[in-house]
Parts: sequence; C-alpha cells; structure tokens
Amino acid sequence: MEPKKAHPLSSWHIVFPNDANPHGTMFGGKVMAIMDIQAGIVASQYCRKTVVTASTEAVDFKNPVRVGDRIETISRVVFVGRTSLVVKIDAYAENPLSGKRKHCTTAYFNMVALDEDGVPTAIPPLIVETEDEKREFRIAEHIKQDALERKKKIREEGGE
Ligand SMILES: CC(C)(COP(=O)(O)OP(=O)(O)OC[C@H]1O[C@@H](n2cnc3c(N)ncnc32)[C@H](O)[C@@H]1OP(=O)(O)O)[C@@H](O)C(=O)NCCC(=O)NCCS
Repeated sequence: MEPKKAHPLSSWHIVFPNDANPHGTMFGGKVMAIMDIQAGIVASQYCRKTVVTASTEAVDFKNPVRVGDRIETISRVVFVGRTSLVVKIDAYAENPLSGKRKHCTTAYFNMVALDEDGVPTAIPPLIVETEDEKREFRIAEHIKQDALERKKKIREEGGE
C-alpha cells in the first residue's frame, strides 16, 4: 500500500445557548463531540474507509468557552499503525467581536478503519518527514500504547 501524507483540516463552529451550562460556558462533552466528529472526518479522508473511535486520552480543558464564541478545531492524522490512526485536535475559542483567541484543549483520538464487514482493515502508512511530524508521531505512538495498556490492565482485572 502506497504511503500517504496527512493534511490538516480546519473547521469552525458556533457555540449556541443549548451547548452551555447555566453559567454560560460550554459543556466539555459538547467540545468532545465536535472533536470526535472532526477526528472521524480527517481520519476517513486520510484512509478513505469507515472509521470508528476506539478510545481517547484523558482531556484537559484549559480555558472555558462561552456562548457566542466561535470554536476552531485544527485536526491532523499524526500516527498510523496497521489498521489504526491517531488524530490530534487543537481547539481554540475566539470571541467574534474582539477577535481574542484562547487555546481550549488538545486531544488525541484513537481511530480504527473498518472494512464492509466491520472488521479492522489495513490502511496506507503515513509519510513522516519533518522534525515536527516525527515528534508528533512519537507522542501519538505513546498515547496509543497507553490506551492499549489501560485496556489490557482492565481486562486482566476482570473489567470489560
Ligand atoms: C475499536 C474496535 C474496532 C477494536 O476492535 P478489536 O477487535 O479490539 O481490534 P483489534 O484488536 O484487531 O485492533 C485493531 C486496531 O485497533 C487498535 N485498538 C484496539 N483497541 C484500541 C483502543 N482502545 N485504543 C487504541 N487503539 C486500539 C489496535 O491497536 C489495532 O491497531 P493496529 O492495527 O494499527 O495495530 C472495536 O472495539 C469497536 O468496534 N469498538 C466500538 C467503536 C465505536 O463504536 N466507537 C464509537 C463510540 S460508541
């Protein structure tokens, strides 16, 4: 299978009142939902397969997002295994009037490509050239390994 370059995807979203809690700041779960959708889009654009989210790392929200803010997500495939991909997403909140911009979070999504029968399927290897791409690849590899170790430990303890 021919190796491929990954291309970043930028997407904008508006925060509506029904996205927020009574204090006027956005629910973390809503931010996660936006990022999960973006992860699916950028991952399937990369491999041209159906993809599912297998896991995410723990996500820290650095700054609150307010009703009326615009959110920009910048998503990129940073690691590719045999059938899996890691998508890194940075989310920024921007006040539409002042233009003031805050970094809200960085999240990594572990995605898996599936064939027509819903079975994990091989995808093209990722071309990693620049120092930044190599560093991102190593970080994502650790994140994926951590997720697999966590899954293994839970199973060994008799969890699901
Ligand atoms: C994700 C899923 C396809 C993995 O199935 P599986 O039988 O464990 O798959 P395999 O053991 O064959 O692993 C396939 C790949 O997924 C990776 N993987 C599996 N579980 C993972 C996890 N929890 N985190 C990160 N990667 C994972 C494996 O490392 C492997 O990657 P590789 O081929 O690049 O080395 C399956 O658990 C699933 O369908 N889950 C539901 C997904 C879903 O519906 N998501 C939406 C949220 S409801």
